[in-house]
Amino acid sequence: MLIGLLLGCGGACASAPDRPDRAGTPPAPQAAAAPGAARPPWPAMPTPARGRLDAAVAANLACEGCHDEVAREWRASLHRSANTEPAYRRAFAIEPMPFCRGCHAPEAAPAEPEPEAVGALGVGCVTCHVTAASSADASAGVLAAPWTRPGPPPAAPHPVVRDARFAGAPACASCHEFSFPTARGRRPEDLMQSTLTEHRSSPAADRPCADCHMPAGAAGRRSHAFVGSRDPAFVRSAVTVSARRTSAAAVEITLAPANAGHAFPTGDLFRRLEISAEALGPDDMVLGQADRYLARHFVIRPGQIGRRLIGDDRVHAAPVTVALDVGPAGEGREIAWRVAYQRVAHPEGVDERDALVEGEITVASGRLAP
Ligand code: HEC
Ligand code: HEC
Ligand code: HEC
Ligand code: HEC
Ligand code: HEC
Repeated sequence: MLIGLLLGCGGACASAPDRPDRAGTPPAPQAAAAPGAARPPWPAMPTPARGRLDAAVAANLACEGCHDEVAREWRASLHRSANTEPAYRRAFAIEPMPFCRGCHAPEAAPAEPEPEAVGALGVGCVTCHVTAASSADASAGVLAAPWTRPGPPPAAPHPVVRDARFAGAPACASCHEFSFPTARGRRPEDLMQSTLTEHRSSPAADRPCADCHMPAGAAGRRSHAFVGSRDPAFVRSAVTVSARRTSAAAVEITLAPANAGHAFPTGDLFRRLEISAEALGPDDMVLGQADRYLARHFVIRPGQIGRRLIGDDRVHAAPVTVALDVGPAGEGREIAWRVAYQRVAHPEGVDERDALVEGEITVASGRLAP
């Protein structure tokens, strides 16, 4: 019971080891809270805007020094480059807001330009594992998932605080779902990213984010490469795609959710699927063409701040079928079709065809005979 209270995970603590010495102690102010007073759950899960600056950089170097393999994976991850990645730098140059810095350079003080080393740290080991406000050092207690492998966990030279929430979506929640800076609420149209809500209503709702994004390697240790939008095989695994010709000029392309743990695409606003079809003449000359984008669609309204969501036709829990008509040129000709996942730059206007594509992965493609 005591452990349950300390770990703040109620009944979910059943899988936590009975090692009170490794559970650490809650920070003093909360321990001293009046009986019956509502206390925030302890330990805190990772959040943006930590402001621990150089202390975080130094503490992170110490983690890296002992956890060699994990550190190597993390250094090549988008968490590490969250503040330095060129796509982010370009977008931040258009909207340089403390709001952005809070998440992309979480150890910085959001209202001030980040020192270079703090920016280069990005989302660090300390950001996720040491959530004490006052210290970034491992001695403040390192968050870990409940131990589930055979035998006791190996001894660590620092306190390890095991919490069931850290093995689930709550470990990712406060950074991977959030409202526009100008929004007042958390309605679907207020959300700039909505991966957590999408996950809850997906067929994979009962699978933790780490199941897919931190797969366990040979030694049973979870990867910190945080596989995602840059990995073609992983992106392709999100859906199964089929196509059929429904008339001389028309094709139907169906995307059914497969390994997706949320909408496809999810994450940043400017991710989309381009579905296209072309009627091919001699030497594959394009004689007729049609396309459509599956995305969250936004408009910018004159005189008003922020983007307004006007539609969401991404792949959620059910299959999505797109019908495309290439026109009379399709008659008696082959039709080539393609589904492409695209990362596009912060669009200047509203015409989706004008957007600058920064990265693209072909999810599926094929040809249909006349
Ligand atoms: C002096 C070396 C050292 C330092 C510094 C250090 N660790 Fe550890 N840590 C270990 C060892 C050894 C273990 C136990 C073996 C293992 O799990 O890798 C451990 C265990 C852990 C665990 C528990 C793994 C599990 O589930 O059993 C986590 C998480 C962790 N460390 C993260 C960190 C983070 C984050 C930092 C920096 C804030 C850090 N460590 C600093 C040596 C260190
Ligand atoms: C974005 C958040 C995040 C970052 C950044 C991060 N970790 Fe982790 N780490 C986790 C989560 C979540 C788990 C537990 C996953 C599970 O078992 O469900 C974990 C697990 C671990 C483990 C135990 C691995 C195992 O399976 O035995 C160690 C050790 C560890 N992290 C160390 C580090 C170190 C060192 C760094 C920096 C080089 C780091 N982590 C960066 C979130 C993070
Ligand atoms: C402190 C905030 C924070 C936390 C906590 C956090 N993330 Fe992230 N994550 C980010 C940011 C910021 C990026 C964007 C990096 C960039 O600029 O590409 C990111 C990127 C990612 C990506 C790569 C996306 C892509 O486009 O490929 C994955 C996957 C990911 N996070 C998964 C997780 C998971 C799983 C957890 C929980 C275990 C987690 N994150 C916790 C802030 C966070
Ligand atoms: C069943 C497996 C699965 C689960 C569970 C899962 N994901 Fe994913 N995730 C994927 C796949 C596959 C992709 C690549 C396709 C895409 O972009 O949606 C992906 C992509 C992402 C991306 C990059 C999106 C982009 O296009 O830039 C982020 C960020 C992300 N996931 C975060 C999360 C978070 C946070 C959770 C938990 C709330 C989670 N995922 C749960 C499979 C999963
Ligand atoms: C609460 C956290 C949070 C805030 C605030 C935030 N972001 Fe992000 N951002 C993320 C996460 C998480 C991802 C990863 C999702 C993905 O890759 O699709 C991301 C991804 C991105 C990407 C894609 C990066 C890449 O590597 O492809 C860009 C660009 C971006 N954000 C720009 C911004 C800008 C500009 C702001 C401020 C207006 C901002 N973000 C505010 C969490 C945040």
